[in-house]
Amino acid sequence: MCSVVGYIGNRYCKKFVLEGLRRLEYRGYDSAGFACLNPEDNRLLYLKAEGKLDNLSDELENSSIDGFLGIGHTRWATHGLSTEQNAHPHFDCQKKLSVVHNGIVENHHELRQQLVQAGHVFHSETDTEIIAHLFEALLISHKTFKAALIELVNRLEGAFAFVSIMQDLPDTMILVRKRSPLCIGIGDGQMFVASDLLAFVKKTNKVLFLPDKSFALVRNDMIELYDFSGKALPIVIQEIDVDIDAHEKKGHSHYMLKEIYEQKNAISETIDFLKKIDSQIWSHLGISSEYAKELESISIVGCGTSWHAARIAQFFFETIALTPTKVNLASEFRYMNFFPSKNSLYIAVSQSGETADTLEAVRFVNDIKLPTIAVTNVASSSMVRESDGFLLTQAGQEIAVASTKAFSTQIAALFWLANRLALEKGIITRKQMDLSQEDLLVAAEVLENSIENYKFDIIQRHAKKYAAYKKTIFLGRNISYPFAMEAALKLKEISYVFAQCYPAGELKHGPLALIDSETPVFVFSHQDPLLYSKIVANTQEVKARDGHVVVFAFEGQDELCELADLSFVFPRVNPLLGPLAMTGLMQFFVYQIAKELGRPIDKPRNLAKSVTVE
Ligand code: M6R
Repeated sequence: MCSVVGYIGNRYCKKFVLEGLRRLEYRGYDSAGFACLNPEDNRLLYLKAEGKLDNLSDELENSSIDGFLGIGHTRWATHGLSTEQNAHPHFDCQKKLSVVHNGIVENHHELRQQLVQAGHVFHSETDTEIIAHLFEALLISHKTFKAALIELVNRLEGAFAFVSIMQDLPDTMILVRKRSPLCIGIGDGQMFVASDLLAFVKKTNKVLFLPDKSFALVRNDMIELYDFSGKALPIVIQEIDVDIDAHEKKGHSHYMLKEIYEQKNAISETIDFLKKIDSQIWSHLGISSEYAKELESISIVGCGTSWHAARIAQFFFETIALTPTKVNLASEFRYMNFFPSKNSLYIAVSQSGETADTLEAVRFVNDIKLPTIAVTNVASSSMVRESDGFLLTQAGQEIAVASTKAFSTQIAALFWLANRLALEKGIITRKQMDLSQEDLLVAAEVLENSIENYKFDIIQRHAKKYAAYKKTIFLGRNISYPFAMEAALKLKEISYVFAQCYPAGELKHGPLALIDSETPVFVFSHQDPLLYSKIVANTQEVKARDGHVVVFAFEGQDELCELADLSFVFPRVNPLLGPLAMTGLMQFFVYQIAKELGRPIDKPRNLAKSVTVE
């Protein structure tokens, strides 16, 4: 969501803070701000700007403000519009301390009322400003700074990571973390602070991830770490390797396009990695081989695209490993009745490993002492640290907000895991396991080749035509239904075209009323003959109402293609991998529509890459 970046050390910090914010811009880009202590007299200096980081960086370039202790922020608005006033940093009444924050202070309303009654004057609509004013009040009412801070962190409810700098404490940066991520990069006589280590990977590979419910006092060359009761905590420093090559577009017009093209390779890397850990897979997942053999049910949680991957994977676990599988949206899971079942496994699927809803679901299951595993793309993520076990997809860093290669590698990893579970349970042989790996590679090949087959037609003819439609309908059946949901999400997210998805069989129960020649219907086929015949029937229902149909079909599905106004045909693959085979072309098509519409594809309006608020 929002990103926070900070620096304390022996160098001027403005350049680093801006660079760090630039790398974390995927987390939010509604407004941005910077504050530092003036090296001459420790006065708090700051600048804020509405809109993208470029606006702030232009203003900062023309300004002389800089210092050896500074903080910065890019915002994804939760409380209040994306205005300059609501941009971080926020301040106390005297403008002696400033705060940048990621998360949500849930009791902000009540605290604001108390503070206003006590005479504090607010300048923004944000929950963050409460932190600055409450800290100001507590500094007056407590004898020591540390006592004030302990009371502050315990008075705030919700999930938050914030960094504060103060005129009266010019050699210290204050960091607080509860549920939202925050880490410190340890340099030589300097410390880098950020929501994501990506902000400082070029500076140091020594990282301290703040534990949940902790605060740190950070100076040039030392860190004090405490829990929320004030008890000192050990400093555990990790050495981390991060590939920042992902930050080059390599000749592509957008990161999204580059990432679409990286999928075949990412899938093959994911399979190679899984083959390598095959023999120790259960210890990786934090369960025993016996537990896997006896496994009676699986429950998967995720959000957005990861939830779609999980919905597709449900078919893998039930068809291949014969294991009943439930899939829940993480944001709903925690607030539903929970019936713990023995011999079950809870899988969290998340590209970032930081999504707050999914992370909270993991914590909820952890508290009940049931086994959790994270299927994620980020080795250093909170989900990896907090789950009992993990499976890493090898997508490489995904920069575009719209998930592409993370989705296809999740599908590959979950397909592999379903087969591996089936092998452990004695349902399939090692030879079948090997074949399933081959099937994945074949589907990855089709994913890439189909883009090549159709790319010129899409660019030269279809993108312009389909960009003119204002609304669309997406249909699928069985495993192609969650895939159709993913296609609809992709189109909405990057093109802002309204897209509604239904299971094709549901059409006649209401949505058929929406069909007209102005609303293209995208139909995703299935290789199973029975399901295919049902999909054909559903498509006929659309055509009979003068609907405009675009089909994604498999070789030999002529009847379906003849019904279509536009069709894309894919070679046949393992039927469970049909969605994976269609993934590349689907993404490429919606990408070209969004490009035609001139959308900011990598950073669509109102969205952020990593959603660390509930
Ligand atoms: O990092 P996660 O996979 O947990 O993120 C979940 C969703 O926020 C994410 O998939 C989102 O839906 C994508 N922007 C879709 O392209």
